[in-house]
Amino acid sequence: MAGGRIPDSFIHDLLSRVDIVEVVGSRVELKRAGREYKGLSPFTNEKSPSFFVNPAKQMFFDFSSGKNGTAITFLMENDRLSFVEAVEELAKRAGVEVPREGGNEGPRLVLDGPLDALAVAEKFYRSQLKTHQPAIDYLKKRGLDGETAKLFNIGFAPESWDALTRLFPEADGQRQHALDAGMLIERDGGGAYDRFRNRVMFPIRDTRGRTIGFGGRTLANDPAKYLNSPETPLFHKGRNLFGLFEAKQSTKAELPYLLVVEGYMDVVMLAQHGIRNAVATLGTATTREHLTLLFKSTRRAVFCFDGDRAGRSAAWRALEQALPEVFDDRECRFMFLPDGHDPDSLVQEIGEAAFRALIDNAQPLSDFLIDELLKQVNLATREGRARLPGLARPHLEKLRDGALRTLIIDRLLTLTRMQRGDLEAALSAAGKAASSATGDDGNDRARRVESPGSKPVRIALQLLLEAPSLADKAEHLGQIAMLNQPGLDILLDSIEFFSENPDASTAQWLEMNRGTPRGAALARVTALPLGISGDLEAEFLDCLNLLRKRAVRERQQALLDVARERELAPAEQSELMALMRERAS
Ligand code: UTP
Ligand code: MN
Repeated sequence: MAGGRIPDSFIHDLLSRVDIVEVVGSRVELKRAGREYKGLSPFTNEKSPSFFVNPAKQMFFDFSSGKNGTAITFLMENDRLSFVEAVEELAKRAGVEVPREGGNEGPRLVLDGPLDALAVAEKFYRSQLKTHQPAIDYLKKRGLDGETAKLFNIGFAPESWDALTRLFPEADGQRQHALDAGMLIERDGGGAYDRFRNRVMFPIRDTRGRTIGFGGRTLANDPAKYLNSPETPLFHKGRNLFGLFEAKQSTKAELPYLLVVEGYMDVVMLAQHGIRNAVATLGTATTREHLTLLFKSTRRAVFCFDGDRAGRSAAWRALEQALPEVFDDRECRFMFLPDGHDPDSLVQEIGEAAFRALIDNAQPLSDFLIDELLKQVNLATREGRARLPGLARPHLEKLRDGALRTLIIDRLLTLTRMQRGDLEAALSAAGKAASSATGDDGNDRARRVESPGSKPVRIALQLLLEAPSLADKAEHLGQIAMLNQPGLDILLDSIEFFSENPDASTAQWLEMNRGTPRGAALARVTALPLGISGDLEAEFLDCLNLLRKRAVRERQQALLDVARERELAPAEQSELMALMRERAS
């Protein structure tokens, strides 16, 4: 079957539609054994069963061959299918079609009611803009012309509690749709009122051009400068990008790149200056779903951030989300703006050509990554150079094999002045520490080598993969994140994934990491015997608490080391005091 890549979101949905017990059960005879199912391994000639299927995790574990994985892995191994064929086979079972990137969007919810209400609101706001001079003056003052306002269907919500509400009479069924779409808010005593008042309204469209929500900028001095539609079944901030539809409309050809900026006005003002391919996240940090979405329309993303500290840390977060999504011919770049400017103000000041020159000079992902790592080491010393591979490892772990990975390793070779063999050893030595954290010998139920230093990381991860709902119980994550400990990033990312996706199974998380060293480490750890039958939550919290204490100790020691070299700054002093108090408690 021809077509683009299968979207990750589809794999994710597919795995929640099929049951691995049925998939395996149609090929292997299974018997119930407690909470699992048991049978003879289809991969070896064993006489006594050591093949298990776990319905909660949606995974299989074969202790005779050492294989384990999801329903997709099972079909690949058992039926000797490729990944795509295995997905197609499962999709057939589930009765859904496999969507391809650039093609149709696959199964969708039918939500005509709220969509209609949003269309009514959009039309109303547009008509209001025509008759409200202060709003027109405001947009003029900001340099926006009428043509651009039209291109984005910009409108105005008047300063009224019921201007929009009156369009949806209570007796009419449409009222509920407007409430569901988040345009109206229900009053406690009955009735409803307008959510958006005295705001310039930016419609947010999905990739098909349907308005699914709004961003509204206040004309007054409201402390909420921008107000966005609430999350609804139609509208998820983490899954939509402002301006994407308009960018795609601007050309028939594939977009050479998408420029990711922060604000509505940035997108609009860039378009007015001929840069029609900018998109904005909706008042949230860049998510992995944003990346998936934008790579459906282009092969290249250029992230545009402020040059200050906040901008660099937002860029770093975007980089972390991007690593697993940058493969094949995909590319990410980063550009930083001069102080005090956003794209809106800058493009008005320097014009299109100069702005494009800045885009052309954006930093490749590999450069930005290495620059940031280099801030943490002193390359002039042997120790500094030796630390670099360990710092790079968790990031390399998220990357699939390919050109970018090779490029980064080549840069590390030059920077560390190591021989290739030594660097690889250092990267895998760090890797080995990580996999003992995650249980390298995971397929051997009998033997179990433990690396004591990282035991709580491994156990916490194991517990979490056993019972993903623990993610919501996690504590002290901010402190723990400061620890320098192998395997820790896998644990923290897993916690983040399961708390953002409370219904997801372990299999779904594994598939998100398919083909990466991290995916392999996760598969190993799920196969480890848990050896804990009591209170999983208490064990989990104990592990996190141990890690917190370790983090406190490490940071305290670091500050004490500094104190021996120079006098501590006041902020450092009070941090040290706080840490001492915490350790005592
Ligand atoms: P900024 O505060 O940088 O505003 O927010 P801006 O885009 O430069 O706004 P103008 O130029 O004063 O009109 C950047 C983005 O962050 C989100 C919005 O998406 C905004 O475009 N944001 C900001 C909110 O969601 N809520 C807010 O209160 C502020
Ligand atoms: Mn601005």
